[in-house]
Amino acid sequence: MTITKTLADVAAVSLNAVRTLENHGLDYCCGGKQSFDEACLAKGLDPDSVLKEIEGAEASGAQVKDWQTAPLGELVRHIVATHHEYLKLELPALGSRVDKVLAVHGTRDPETLRPMAEVFCALRAEMELHMNKEETILFPFIERYGAAAAQGHPMPAVPFGSIANPIAMMEHEHASAGDALGKIRELTRDYELPPYACRTVQALYAGLQALEADLHVHIHLENNILFPRAIALEGR
Ligand SMILES: [Fe+2]
Ligand SMILES: [Fe+2]
Repeated sequence: MTITKTLADVAAVSLNAVRTLENHGLDYCCGGKQSFDEACLAKGLDPDSVLKEIEGAEASGAQVKDWQTAPLGELVRHIVATHHEYLKLELPALGSRVDKVLAVHGTRDPETLRPMAEVFCALRAEMELHMNKEETILFPFIERYGAAAAQGHPMPAVPFGSIANPIAMMEHEHASAGDALGKIRELTRDYELPPYACRTVQALYAGLQALEADLHVHIHLENNILFPRAIALEGR
């Protein structure tokens, strides 16, 4: 029997795998359920060469952490300290840049800048609320759940019916964030700088592109590793 390897399976191996997929524009987080081979072929890439590239990165000793086996509490703290903290700093900074660019160039390029500002503002509001829900409700529960399982203690009662319920809601919000990033990429024509690009426009485009890359890794760690591990604990 042949097992279809998905983009999420490949990404879940290591951060090097994530970086390689990101470099090739392969959507391993929200589109992670696609077959790896088919996604590569659709981009004109040879699946075996992409796998070799990942192996090469592993061999070169780039730092890797096995989040499939690390304690769940450690993974939760890593996501918050790395990716949530990044968003808490970057979203307001990008928000000011968006406002500035719109004020200076809004009339020159309204088809790009107005919808981009709208999509960004909605994404920012949604992500701020989303992280708050994760940090105050879901993540503390997953940490307690993981610790109880690791210590062989009785599992705490799930206050949401099933842990799969809040997770489904978070995944739905991730898909919406993924759509917003895709829309921004489309509006900016893959972040190609417009002829009027001043320093602020350049900084905005670079910042949005970095936001996209970070959010992809962030969503991947939650959708493809943290959430399936938490759901598997409930099913034991
Ligand atoms: Fe998160
Ligand atoms: Fe999330």
